[in-house]
Amino acid sequence: PVLVVDYGAQYAQLIARRVREADVFSEIVPSTTPVAEMLAKEPAAVILSGGPSSVYAEGAPQVDPALFDAGVPVLGICYGFQAMAQALGGEVARTGLREYGGTGARVVDAEGSTLLRGQPAEQSVWMSHGDAVTRAPEGFRVVADSQGAPVAAFEDDGRRLYGVQWHPEVKHSTFGQEVLRNFLHRGAGIDPDWTTGNVIEEQVARIRQQVGDGRVICGLSGGVDSAVAAALVQRAVGEQLTCVFVDHGLLRAGEAEQVEQDFVAVTGVKLHVVDARETFLAALAGVSDPETKRKTIGREFIRAFERAAREIIADAGEHGGEVRFLVQGTLYPDVVESGGGTGAATIKSHHNVGGLPDDLAFELVEPLRTLFKDEVRAVGTELGLPEDMVWRQPFPGPGLAIRIVGEVTAERLDTLRTADAIARAELTAAGLDREIWQCPVVLLADVRSVGVQGDGRTYGHPVVLRPVSSEDAMTADWTRLPYDVLARISTRITNEVAEVNRVVLDVTSKPPGTIEWE
Ligand code: XMP
Repeated sequence: PVLVVDYGAQYAQLIARRVREADVFSEIVPSTTPVAEMLAKEPAAVILSGGPSSVYAEGAPQVDPALFDAGVPVLGICYGFQAMAQALGGEVARTGLREYGGTGARVVDAEGSTLLRGQPAEQSVWMSHGDAVTRAPEGFRVVADSQGAPVAAFEDDGRRLYGVQWHPEVKHSTFGQEVLRNFLHRGAGIDPDWTTGNVIEEQVARIRQQVGDGRVICGLSGGVDSAVAAALVQRAVGEQLTCVFVDHGLLRAGEAEQVEQDFVAVTGVKLHVVDARETFLAALAGVSDPETKRKTIGREFIRAFERAAREIIADAGEHGGEVRFLVQGTLYPDVVESGGGTGAATIKSHHNVGGLPDDLAFELVEPLRTLFKDEVRAVGTELGLPEDMVWRQPFPGPGLAIRIVGEVTAERLDTLRTADAIARAELTAAGLDREIWQCPVVLLADVRSVGVQGDGRTYGHPVVLRPVSSEDAMTADWTRLPYDVLARISTRITNEVAEVNRVVLDVTSKPPGTIEWE
């Protein structure tokens, strides 16, 4: 792999993703990782990320100079660039000139440069630094400078050591991705072989090796991660896999069918469907408190899944086998954020999404553990999963139940499902799906509003459109949808859904409003 050494800024994941966009596999390691440990991973190259600190700050993370003697190609970025300069005997000074945000760099050696060859002399770059490299270490050529940095990029082709002051991983750096590509392909001479096809092949081989002839179960939620994970396992060990889908009746129009028909048609997976619609409705009767709804749904889900799992296990037993493995759609960012550890191989049931009984311990199969979301989507597409499934926007586990303000009933679910389908269809038709993060449609079932429809006055319910833009759902802003799209959604919903006579728009950012209403 290419190791991205994380100096604690928010950039390491972005760098790792950009490296993969250059078709090279990358992995993030914390800056405290000893050099020997990094080398043990036989890295094809190492990238030192940016960081928040000055190299002069007390406790600033250091670079062990041994890294530069190991014969491994290294690229230092921002803080990593400065730490590299310092470790190799260059000079880092507080120039008093701070550069932040979009500024310019001047390429001073476009001809001879490995990173910048053929690029324009003046280019926009994204910077964020107070200190600057004022003298390159011995053996390095200076290939760019900037207003605030006498040395903004340097190279030593002999030792294959490179550095840039700016952030090539950020889109605002016009030639950023080219700089990364040049480092990886030219400087480090790495073959670009991290392609979707190879990812699938490698994961399939790994799954086969891990699972052997053991039996596997996998819960499907209707979301992209569990679907892609299951499809990979299916490709690897086919008949040994059984998927469980709990139909709780709280999904949107077409989603259950998508899992039950399209997914099975494409993958040929063995599917165990639990029709729990009645059970969920009965359990939700009379419940209007959001927390109680969530708890009720969680509890019923565990019961349904547990029952299905036991049936599958019993069935396997009758045929002289046991179910040893459970598939989970854990993604790479989850792994990095939880400390990047190797993860315990065996977990107790209540820690997993399926909520399996306490007396069952499974070995986890996590085929998406090394992948970012965009890679998961690419794998799903390549495996032939439906576009709608692969590009599905986030949807909460408790489903439509937390989008009905008030008690959940079969009728209200139908009303909301119809309104939601209209909003989704119009947003898709307007080409806005990838621009918005998600757009909950909320039924204010406990509110009644007066309207005039057809010949008379009506006494119906309002629905709320909640379109949001976000990077990670932690914060969000309301999306400025075009008025004509809003108008079409409103007209169609009030015409086609009898119980709804008013459509309102939620214009609250998060914070203070959450994305969902409950
Ligand atoms: P909020 O409403 O907290 O939502 O701003 C943030 C993101 O999480 C989703 N969400 C949930 N997902 N179970 C889930 O699996 C839940 O109970 C749940 N509540 C909210 C929400 O759709 C948004 O993407």
